[in-house]
Amino acid sequence: MARGIVMGLGVIGVLAIATVSQAGQAKPAAAGAAQAAAKALKNPVPTNAASVEAGKATFTKYCRSCHGAEGKGDGPGAPKDVHPANLIDAKWDHGSTDGEIFTTIKAGVGPKFDMDSWDGRIKDPDIWNLVNYIRSLSPTAKK
Ligand code: HEC
Repeated sequence: MARGIVMGLGVIGVLAIATVSQAGQAKPAAAGAAQAAAKALKNPVPTNAASVEAGKATFTKYCRSCHGAEGKGDGPGAPKDVHPANLIDAKWDHGSTDGEIFTTIKAGVGPKFDMDSWDGRIKDPDIWNLVNYIRSLSPTAKK
């Protein structure tokens, strides 16, 4: 009897958590549209040695300090309390298509923008090179 009540409460608890986390994921329409646009973007730069090399040069200059030489998010230059994303683990937090990764780099990640917007500082073709380079760091784990 008592066990039944405890289990019942457990189920309610799980349902409550599931409901809250779903509500938390609901995005305003504008953000949804922006993500759809990001997804629809096609990578115009073929992945080849030249693009990957160019991406590496840009990454080394602007990104390595935070994301680390291997993209693991362990760069020594990250400001205190900033936790750069691991770019080669199994999950993309902000979308996994080339277009979404491009948009993450170009627009940054709000609201805090610890991951800054690089719009205007890195030209679009070089952002695509970055996408190709980041993917080359992890040919199997992240797709
Ligand atoms: C000041 C440190 C810092 C620098 C420099 C930086 N980033 Fe980031 N980056 C972050 C942080 C922090 C996050 C996690 C943002 C979040 O999820 O809130 C992030 C997230 C990302 C993501 C999203 C990963 C995912 O799982 O979706 C990509 C892609 C990325 N950065 C690429 C780059 C590239 C390319 C550069 C160089 C042009 C760069 N970053 C420079 C701190 C940095």
